[in-house]
Amino acid sequence: MKEMLEQLKQQLSEMLPEIDSPQKLEEAKVRFLGKKGSLTALKRGMGALSPEERPKAGQMINTVSQWMEERLSECEQRIKSRMREEALRSETIDVTEPRDAISMGGEHPLTLVLRDLVDCFTGMGFEVVEGPEIELDHYNFELLNIPKNHPARDAQDTFYVDDNIVLRTHTSPMQARTMLTRKPPIRIICPGRVFRADEVDATHSPVFHQMEGLVIDEDVTMADLRGTLNEFARRLYGSDVTTRFRPSFFPFTEPSAEVDLTCMACHGKGCPICKGTGWIEVLGSGMVNPKVLDMCGIDSKKYKGFAFGIGLERIAMLRYGIRDMRLFYEGDQKYFAQFR
Ligand code: PHE
Repeated sequence: MKEMLEQLKQQLSEMLPEIDSPQKLEEAKVRFLGKKGSLTALKRGMGALSPEERPKAGQMINTVSQWMEERLSECEQRIKSRMREEALRSETIDVTEPRDAISMGGEHPLTLVLRDLVDCFTGMGFEVVEGPEIELDHYNFELLNIPKNHPARDAQDTFYVDDNIVLRTHTSPMQARTMLTRKPPIRIICPGRVFRADEVDATHSPVFHQMEGLVIDEDVTMADLRGTLNEFARRLYGSDVTTRFRPSFFPFTEPSAEVDLTCMACHGKGCPICKGTGWIEVLGSGMVNPKVLDMCGIDSKKYKGFAFGIGLERIAMLRYGIRDMRLFYEGDQKYFAQFR
């Protein structure tokens, strides 16, 4: 028995230097200490010994078993620390290594224009509100005095979701929503995406952006509308820029006006951008139709209001000399980088 134990110790000692992986360690454990391992076999063999010899043999086996466990656990430590070192070495990042330059995009020209407009109007006391892009016909048309079969519906080629739901064709439904939920005085702007079933070309897109403005209070007049838009023109383009009002028609404003700004490119002298007129059309506006006020729960005897809708793409195209509207939506980083 003693000899056999010595032999096993010897065997393991010789193997130890070669145990250099978790698999080999496991194999050694099974071979010497496992259920079917050598030591277990020896323990079983103890039955054949005389009762006097047994305790001594048991002790010897235990001593060797303990010794083996210690050696194998040393092995395990060695393997673990080696693996840790290897991992540290192979996962090291050289923070001094040069790398490719990160190419930076720029802010979208529409974002830049929107930010300026919001700054300008919040500076005049307007509050920003936002509304749904998928809108009820009721708000997009009915409450704005555009009943079903009204010819004004044809002018806005509408994407219908179903009979009662549309993709909003303008930001004006937020006029109705605001009047229905707030009490005057009201002074809001509402920027957002709008949708019309237009063919894509250099000046048309089925998705574009507007910013609505709405003011309701006692004694609001057309002069307030004009003063507000003049101030907007000056803040955005400089003190020599002013507005020109031309009579127009919108069912939800009465009277209505298309508003031109002094051409920022030629300061009114006349150039190819303004087609020689010195003026650029940028928005629709008017005094809120009393019918709309009443439909939206605001007493038209007591309150008046004005509203306007600015096309953001148009402003951005003029400001940055962008000739083709499609460039806004193609997401070309190189193109946008110039607006950084
Ligand atoms: N909603 C109109 C359009 O999309 C613009 C507008 C807004 C006109 C507010 C008058 C008042 O053309």
